Amino acid sequence: MENAKYKRIVLKLSGEALAGASGFGIDNTIMSSIARQVKDVVEIGAEVAIVVGGGNIWRGVAGSAQGMDRATADYMGMLATIINSLALQDALENEGVESRVMTAIEMKEIAEPYIRRRAIRHLEKGRVVIFAAGTGNPYFSTDTAAALRSAEIEAEVILMAKKVDGVYDSDPVSNPEAVKFEDLQFIDVLSKGLGVMDSTAASLCMDNGIPIIVFDLTRSGNILKVVQGQNIGTYVGR
Ligand code: GTP
Repeated sequence: MENAKYKRIVLKLSGEALAGASGFGIDNTIMSSIARQVKDVVEIGAEVAIVVGGGNIWRGVAGSAQGMDRATADYMGMLATIINSLALQDALENEGVESRVMTAIEMKEIAEPYIRRRAIRHLEKGRVVIFAAGTGNPYFSTDTAAALRSAEIEAEVILMAKKVDGVYDSDPVSNPEAVKFEDLQFIDVLSKGLGVMDSTAASLCMDNGIPIIVFDLTRSGNILKVVQGQNIGTYVGR
């Protein structure tokens, strides 16, 4: 393998990351940029699985805040992640990257159902596997889906793509004095409520020894840098 520090990774993309400035829908330019960046990572020999959120289309929590039944709102969010996953697969294929979408809720006419051993086989064959529909359960976020799938496929690390370059002690957008952490422990994320990921996801990562790296996706080339082991973003471990 050429210079990949990690052999198998899970990349977590928020739905908003696909939306561009409007915050809604799917921005083709951003999608192709992400696809090109993923291609660079595949080309150095890393196995890449992707979990994508759905917040650019629908947020279950927001629906429930408006009085909708929480489980129904969450199922709508899972459907949103499937839309994003299909768009991502299309963008990857435009770049010549082979990929497979696997859904946690069976929808055979649209994509393969999630089968753990099959997902691993796809990865071994160099295909990018996109895990769609979260965990398939309401009340679980797509961050938790990333943690769960990482444990199942024995990924070495979760790369959490954000619009900021790591974890700060307060919001760097509203507070210019905010201090960035170079590394952190999950227990601090949980006890300080740092908002990197929800507590279910953080606990799952902590209990199963899966580190996460929070990094800035808006700088092109960053995914490759993280996979090569360059010290950018914030490393969260045990
Ligand atoms: P191998 O041949 O095992 O290396 O993998 P493969 O994914 O190429 O094999 P397969 O023949 O299973 O799949 C061929 C194509 O059909 C791929 O694009 C799969 O994503 C797709 N496919 C496989 N199973 C399903 C399914 O249940 N539903 C849908 N919609 N597509 C599927």
